[in-house]
Amino acid sequence: MEIVRLVLLVVHLLGFAALTGGILVQLREPTKRVNSLMRDGAGTAVVAGVALVGVLEADSDVQVDHAKIGVKLVIGLIILALVMMNLRRPRIPDGLFWLIAALTLANLCVAVFWAPAHGSY
Ligand code: HEM
Repeated sequence: MEIVRLVLLVVHLLGFAALTGGILVQLREPTKRVNSLMRDGAGTAVVAGVALVGVLEADSDVQVDHAKIGVKLVIGLIILALVMMNLRRPRIPDGLFWLIAALTLANLCVAVFWAPAHGSY
């Protein structure tokens, strides 16, 4: 099970990296839009994240912090919804672009700073 968790964690982090990369490549663009990296990254991060929780829940030695995971899931789903709803638009308002960037940063901070007790996630 440990190897499955680690593979899913790698996929999860690749999704996060693609979403962040898709956001970063647009920083210098005068008009912002949702690109395919953001779509694929957000989808991959959410699907792999939910699968990770399933693997962790199946391990009786591990305690999952449901508050932390709940917050991550809600933020992740909002990011995914905003990305999917605006995928076909040739440009999006700057405010929406920065909202997606801020929510992505928020989920990164929840993952890193919301430290659960030792031996739990
Ligand atoms: C865009 C959204 C997301 C971002 C940017 C993100 C980011 C990250 C990062 C950077 C880590 C590694 C740091 C750590 O292990 O503490 C992580 C781990 C994790 N994430 Fe996410 N995440 C997102 C969405 C989700 C969602 C939707 C879920 C589940 C509902 C989730 C569940 C997890 C779990 C369970 C871990 C710990 C994995 C382990 O160490 O085995 N994430 N996330």
